[in-house]
Amino acid sequence: MKSTPTQYGSVAITIHWLSAIFILALLGSGFRAASMTDSAAKEEILMFHVPLGIVILLLTLLRMFWWWRVDQKPRPVDGDPAWQRFIAKAIHEPDRVYRRS
Ligand code: HEM
Repeated sequence: MKSTPTQYGSVAITIHWLSAIFILALLGSGFRAASMTDSAAKEEILMFHVPLGIVILLLTLLRMFWWWRVDQKPRPVDGDPAWQRFIAKAIHEPDRVYRRS
């Protein structure tokens, strides 16, 4: 379930992909609801959209707790190109990219 130095664990992978799928579904259903004029149809979409948004919030809190208290990130892959390392660091540790030293 937990990550190893060379591989993400099943919990981290599951949270990651569920979040990705749910966020895409939220974007699709959100834009669809916003463009609807029929209020009954809009309500029907929002009955799916709103609980899914709350699930994403809970998944994100679980993700934060998981990395903070339980799991450890795998090591960066050896030999990856400098541009990939830069982008990964800019997204995951922006303070380290922009910090002057
Ligand atoms: C990560 C979570 C969420 C994402 C990515 C998301 C995304 C979106 C997007 C893209 C729209 C269309 C916005 C527009 O074009 O005006 C939308 C609309 C909407 N969202 Fe969400 N949403 C999320 C969570 C929630 C939650 C938790 C709620 C309620 C508690 C909510 C309630 C609504 C409502 C009521 C609309 C329709 C607004 C309208 O009628 O114009 N959303 N959402």
